[in-house]
Amino acid sequence: MKGLRTEPLGARHDRSGFRCGVPELDDYLVRQASQDVRRRVTAVFVMVAEERPRRILGYYTLSSFAVRTTGLPEDEMRKLPRYPTTPATLIGRLARDVGEPGVGGLLLADALKRILASAGEVASALVVVEAKDPSTVTFYQKYGFITFRGCPRKLLFGLQSAGNPQNRQIPTH
Ligand SMILES: CC(C)(COP(=O)(O)OP(=O)(O)OC[C@H]1O[C@@H](n2cnc3c(N)ncnc32)[C@H](O)[C@@H]1OP(=O)(O)O)[C@@H](O)C(=O)NCCC(=O)NCCS
Repeated sequence: MKGLRTEPLGARHDRSGFRCGVPELDDYLVRQASQDVRRRVTAVFVMVAEERPRRILGYYTLSSFAVRTTGLPEDEMRKLPRYPTTPATLIGRLARDVGEPGVGGLLLADALKRILASAGEVASALVVVEAKDPSTVTFYQKYGFITFRGCPRKLLFGLQSAGNPQNRQIPTH
């Protein structure tokens, strides 16, 4: 991550110059992201290079989420109390510019670290993502995500662990 940083989306970022290959994810940045941030329904983080801080290399969005506990994979359910729902954080969107291979993994690792850090203030036991196609499922699985029962494109990453949540091992790129 040398020379790269992740920060909240702001007016200084060039949103219209971003191209990830999925038009809906490009359009979201231009048309919807700032409004969602203002309304506090989504937090949007962008990755930039220090020497060119206006250009967006990639972005991800985070929102709080609740998961029905009985819908979780058995192994994950065993680690959790039997509350009807389990608090989670949703990575609603994650994309990198077509010219920036490798940034996807950095974005995901950054998102997980940020979620873990904030889970000390507002608890979140799981990270949830909805992969847009089967090949993206493989991308998330590489970083330790597992699929929900009966929902092959919905994946989770458990943040709960035996000790201090701050000690949970986060995959590095
Ligand atoms: C999916 C996406 C974020 C991956 O970003 P990336 O920069 O290519 O990912 P990385 O190079 O950091 O990949 C990390 C690892 O995952 C693998 N990987 C990346 N994309 C993959 C894919 N689509 N299928 C399978 N494996 C993939 C890489 O090969 C790499 O493995 P390696 O370290 O063994 O070589 C990127 O392709 C993207 O932004 N796509 C358009 C938007 C999108 O589909 N977002 C996902 C929404 S659910």
